[in-house]
Amino acid sequence: MREQYVTDGLAEAALPGDPLEQFALWFKEAARATGAVHEPNAMVVSTADAEGRPSSRTVLLKGFDERGFVFFTNYESRKARELSANPYVSLLFPWHPMARQVIVSGTAARVAREETVAYFRTRPHGSQLGAWASAQSSVLTSRRELDRAYADLAARYPEGEQVPAPPNWGGFRVTPTAVEFWQGRSDRLHDRLRYVREAGQGWHLERLSP
Ligand SMILES: Cc1cc2nc3c(=O)[nH]c(=O)nc-3n(C[C@H](O)[C@H](O)[C@H](O)COP(=O)(O)O)c2cc1C
Repeated sequence: MREQYVTDGLAEAALPGDPLEQFALWFKEAARATGAVHEPNAMVVSTADAEGRPSSRTVLLKGFDERGFVFFTNYESRKARELSANPYVSLLFPWHPMARQVIVSGTAARVAREETVAYFRTRPHGSQLGAWASAQSSVLTSRRELDRAYADLAARYPEGEQVPAPPNWGGFRVTPTAVEFWQGRSDRLHDRLRYVREAGQGWHLERLSP
């Protein structure tokens, strides 16, 4: 379990001025790499409560552009409650098969309701019902309780019927303040290039010791 990472390096001169552009390039490569990264849009979202106690979980990235990174979840879940009290968030993309990692630091805010509704419409019928059936992060008495809730909803909204977006469900957009691109290299001399947003001046690129 002591792998040597023999890869091309990451050079300052090759990087665009905007981290979102670099992210788009690596994301495309992660999605294209045959048999490499299974779900390149799976990211570890870390939040902390008002007292600074951290928690992490995997969530799917559903969009990104110059405004930031978007994921969808239940607004009463643990992560959402923590984000209401403390908007600081970390996103980590573990692209191990490519010896790459991207870490985004920033703040999360709810997306507009229309954006949630538009995305919800694209979800498969079963996932739409699942979003209604699950009071995410709350304690269940049994699996049956969940299956019953789903069955009741399936009876109310049969396949083909429009399911409204649940009011307590929606997107968060993470506005980045720093984005680090990590590329594994041999002898643990990895490349770490971090973009840091400078107040009103765009992005500054710096190299971190591995
Ligand atoms: C591959 C993968 C993808 C997931 N995608 C999502 C997602 O997009 N949204 C979501 O709310 N939970 C997703 N989950 C479930 C979360 O990891 C987590 O269990 C759930 O959001 C509750 O987290 P919380 O109690 O910390 O708020 C995913 C889990 C895995 C393993």
